[in-house]
Amino acid sequence: MRVTVFGIGYVGLVQAAVLAEVGHDVVCVDVDETKVENLKKGVIPIYEPGLTPLVESHFKAGRLNFTTDAAHGVKHGEVQFIAVGTPPDEDGSADLKYVLAVASTIAEHMDCPKVIIDKSTVPVGTADKVKQRVTDILAKRGADIEFDVVSNPEFLKEGAAVNDCMRPDRIIIGTYNERPQDLMRELYGPFNRNHDKVVFMDVRSAELTKYAANCMLATKISFMNEMANLAEILGADIEAVRRGIGSDPRIGYHFIYPGCGYGGSCFPKDVQALIRTAEQHDYQPAILQAVESVNTRQKSKLPALVKQHFGQQLAGKTFALWGLSFKPNTDDMREAPSRVLLEALWEQGAKVQAFDPEAMEETQRIYGVREDLTLVGTKEAALRGADALIICTEWQQFRAPDFDQIKQQLSEAVIFDGRNLFEPNRMKRKGFTYYAIGRGQSVTQY
Ligand code: UDX
Repeated sequence: MRVTVFGIGYVGLVQAAVLAEVGHDVVCVDVDETKVENLKKGVIPIYEPGLTPLVESHFKAGRLNFTTDAAHGVKHGEVQFIAVGTPPDEDGSADLKYVLAVASTIAEHMDCPKVIIDKSTVPVGTADKVKQRVTDILAKRGADIEFDVVSNPEFLKEGAAVNDCMRPDRIIIGTYNERPQDLMRELYGPFNRNHDKVVFMDVRSAELTKYAANCMLATKISFMNEMANLAEILGADIEAVRRGIGSDPRIGYHFIYPGCGYGGSCFPKDVQALIRTAEQHDYQPAILQAVESVNTRQKSKLPALVKQHFGQQLAGKTFALWGLSFKPNTDDMREAPSRVLLEALWEQGAKVQAFDPEAMEETQRIYGVREDLTLVGTKEAALRGADALIICTEWQQFRAPDFDQIKQQLSEAVIFDGRNLFEPNRMKRKGFTYYAIGRGQSVTQY
């Protein structure tokens, strides 16, 4: 099938690559010329395991092409994906200008029936707006061409995006009527083996499904962070509690890890956007508001623990920081808890020596060169001459470090662990002051 994908961001590029992988003929359109030229040379703008070889091989085979020529893109695809960004407005609601601009482009250039697929995470009601925009422009052109708008949200996780796209749990397809359903089944046929994963529904339900899924997961995390804080106060151990409740299949073990707050491009943005949508309809979304405020407070937990231990004045102190990305296996720093920590430490006059396996370039891009930030090439180098170690991201290589070396390097044997990587009792026996999340001595005074 001929497929066009507008927007070569995270979602668009991964989707395009896996569609090419199963044999579809894919053209990707983006306004960013440098990005397009780089992709043709095999330079991938994001770090995502498994993506580079897919893009390279299918580009060479001619099944995956990149262009800035929108008219060519519209001509090419029977289906037209809209996978452009929906950045948050000042008030947190999703900004639809790019989505609607693509809808306009498609309407201006189409000369035969098209199925237009909303892939971007968009507020409920966006498909209606896309449909209206296309109808208006076609009317202005005097063109009587059939088209369908479909809501088809993605559920991929960064770091596992290729696999998530190749083996989706479910394929949500929201349509206005049955007309585009066969074509959608054909498009996703190669991903829909073993059992039927396609769930057809109306467009508004499909749009809300995406938000409901992410907000549910964010709720689980904020709930566990709240339990962790309570565990500290009550003298319980959240890790025991986690195992205890996770064994109930109705609760499950997934997404109940407490930590230093959730980040990334999806949870913070989607929770905020659904809050704004609810408020715009005069509904107070009490649970969502709590999920957000618990997360904001949780991101201040590590800085609060540091201040509790070292006092308010951190001038002259140097902290080793392991992990900058919002989670492992990505270089993504969007809404990362490490940013709240870095900024709080700098504010108190501290210096930071940081190491991350992937996100250091991104950190440099965000913060530039500063005298109070040194980015180093290994986790060991981060420790050199530092006063304490702080862990923000649970990269595999941080899970079994050489504790003797850590002790030797740090001026004080103290670790602030935002991801609960170690056993508090063992750490105590090794002679560390060990602060974790919801495990004993971490009772935080905010
Ligand atoms: C998420 C959803 O998982 C995905 O389905 C959706 O399409 C996009 O948003 P992503 O943002 O890539 O994916 O990361 P995810 O692995 O879900 O982690 C999000 C954040 O939650 C991270 O900061 C992670 O550290 C945190 N988290 C996750 C916890 O703090 N505890 C957990 O138990 C799980």
